[in-house]
Amino acid sequence: MHKICILLLIYSIAWSQQRSLDARIDSVLSKMTLDEKIGQLNQYSGGFFTGVNKNRLSGSYEQLIREGKVGSLLNVFGSEQTRKMQRIAVEQSRAKIPLIFGLDVIHGCKTTFPVPLAEASTWDTAAVALSARWQAIEASSAGIHWTFGPMVDIARDPRWGRIVEGSGEDPYLGSLMAAARVRGYQGGDLAANNTIVACAKHFAGYGGAEGGRDYNTVDMSERTFREVYLKPFKSAVDAGAGTLMASFNEIGGVPSSANHQLLTRILRDEWKFDGFVVSDWNSVGELIPHGAAKDLAQAAELGINAGVDMDMESDAYIASLKNLVNSGKVSQNTIDESVRRILRIKFRLGLFEDPYKYCDAAREKAQTRSKEIISAARMIAGKSIVLLKNDGEILPLKKSIGTVAIIGPLANSKRDPLGAWAQQGDSGDVVTVVEGVRQKLSAAQVLYEQGCGITDSSKNGFAAAVAVAKKADVVLLVLGESLAMSGEAYSRSRLDLPGVQEELAEAVCAAGKPVIVILMNGRPLAVPWIVEHSNALIEAWFLGVQSGNAVADVLFGSVNPSGKLPVTFPRSVGQIPLYYNNKNTGRPGDPRNHYTSAYFDLENTPLFPFGFGLSYSKFEYSHLTLNVSSMTMDGSLTASVDVRNSGTRAGEEVVQFYIRDLVGSVTRPVKELKGFSKVALRPGETKKVEFVIMPEHLKFYTLDMTYAIEPGEFMLFAGGNSRDVLEVPFTVTQ
Ligand code: BGC
Repeated sequence: MHKICILLLIYSIAWSQQRSLDARIDSVLSKMTLDEKIGQLNQYSGGFFTGVNKNRLSGSYEQLIREGKVGSLLNVFGSEQTRKMQRIAVEQSRAKIPLIFGLDVIHGCKTTFPVPLAEASTWDTAAVALSARWQAIEASSAGIHWTFGPMVDIARDPRWGRIVEGSGEDPYLGSLMAAARVRGYQGGDLAANNTIVACAKHFAGYGGAEGGRDYNTVDMSERTFREVYLKPFKSAVDAGAGTLMASFNEIGGVPSSANHQLLTRILRDEWKFDGFVVSDWNSVGELIPHGAAKDLAQAAELGINAGVDMDMESDAYIASLKNLVNSGKVSQNTIDESVRRILRIKFRLGLFEDPYKYCDAAREKAQTRSKEIISAARMIAGKSIVLLKNDGEILPLKKSIGTVAIIGPLANSKRDPLGAWAQQGDSGDVVTVVEGVRQKLSAAQVLYEQGCGITDSSKNGFAAAVAVAKKADVVLLVLGESLAMSGEAYSRSRLDLPGVQEELAEAVCAAGKPVIVILMNGRPLAVPWIVEHSNALIEAWFLGVQSGNAVADVLFGSVNPSGKLPVTFPRSVGQIPLYYNNKNTGRPGDPRNHYTSAYFDLENTPLFPFGFGLSYSKFEYSHLTLNVSSMTMDGSLTASVDVRNSGTRAGEEVVQFYIRDLVGSVTRPVKELKGFSKVALRPGETKKVEFVIMPEHLKFYTLDMTYAIEPGEFMLFAGGNSRDVLEVPFTVTQ
């Protein structure tokens, strides 16, 4: 009874707050002219460009803001700059509606954190939420209200450069990461001055681009779309994301910025989203080259009627909406609804109370690159590292190791560790691997040679590199991609090491010293030679400003690696798409049987499976058991597995649970991640890790597209990655 009363009270407070917010929005709306309303739906890049440059001069914005023709600016940065623009909006325009300032805070602002794919490798939602929280604190102090993140696109094709911006291939892990980032950015209360609105993007299916080529066509079944690609968006919406961004791509012939089914039926009618949708950069204008609109006016009509509330940089709304309303092609009500959604977010941010609350120069100075944020960046960078190989337990290194030769084009790069979206980041802040290792050892112990550039074809530096390798007791070979090889419009047709890096590795390995390879890259790489010939292999992704310190922490054992791959590593680009939650087919690949689903010139298995990652501890799994072997469709079942640290160091293990539905009205994946826990274990310690199987874990879109459980036989798997697992069957009854 007591509980019910409290719930009723909470509900009635929320309801009355909502009503009073709606009343305030209506009151603002009632005083606006149609032109001013359309102005609210218009967004320009006010500083620099993060998309196609239309040669607009940034100075011209001031007059447009004064005239009420701009509702939002992106890419204006800093408390001074944003204050200046805000002043024009709230003091010099007629309607006095505050601007909302957006920026791509994808993995940090001034302090660059690990790229999102790296952070996803932590499998640590609390750490990822904390990272987003710190990013929001720093960004908000520089006048930013709104980040165009999290990027929650599922990516099964590592050729696609934007795989670096997301959380990898899995909808479950991706959903948890999406929610964690939304919570981190938005904090407990959007009205606080250190929280920023999240924008889940790119809605939707963008990562399914054919051939991994950016902006390319996407076509897939509605089932896959909903079960794989939409899942993280739903999770972001459920976590309270204030905005979404419509994607560039088409799906099934309909570009997202004209997709009413997606932006209205699914997003608003099914999911009850009450925030606003912004287009991607010029994506409304691009309805013309897509072949969906004949001109900008028709593009505007399609965009607004589909559910794109704010037009980023295509000028379509500002140029055409008035005529479209006057001619009846767009209703006044549609415009009002879109304006309402945008005003709602501006109200939630508290901008009507204090439009300058994010423009405080003293706070900006105190929060930018603060000691706390830099130490958070180092902590999360350490957790993002994935140890892929450690033969003979060569790692961690002892400080008494003797001489270390550090070789490779990324060993002392100040810029590349920043990663793809570090637009505010400063390469001067980056600690390189050479610098990080030098902090751990005496200067005399560390030799450095670059060997070659990232994309070089020249081998001129090889001899010097081999010479330092010969003088050393151990070689650290830091190889990979440049920061500009992943991210938007940076798709690759190959997944090997660029330039002559592999040949450098061959030359250095031939020197006969133990070689530890450290990879820095924005996507999975197909590097079987490196895996075979290195003594140890570390996946360091792009770890941001604290890269070198984090790598050195792992190399010398002050951090015991605990990262796991959020994405499959292929052996060859020819295997793409390669993902763990694939279907079995009628003829699953079998090397002993020719007429099966396989390549005759390469095995089907990945180089490293999804979920893989080693530790300096050793984890053993046993006794995967169920409390009962059968559950009803609305019941539950508890699984447990014993995990023992049989090594000599304390460490953390990500214990993963997968399920397979053996027979269905439609075929189901061979495994689907349904739960995991990161557990800390002392040497010799065993923990029983539990996982409760709930109806939600077993639902899918059945033959008639209802989201339901089908009774029958299932298999539960538990292990430290998606390949090496224990299994136990269970049944679901009617
Ligand atoms: C990207 C978005 C980004 C936007 C604004 C576009 O080109 O696709 O991810 O948020 O630019 O910078």
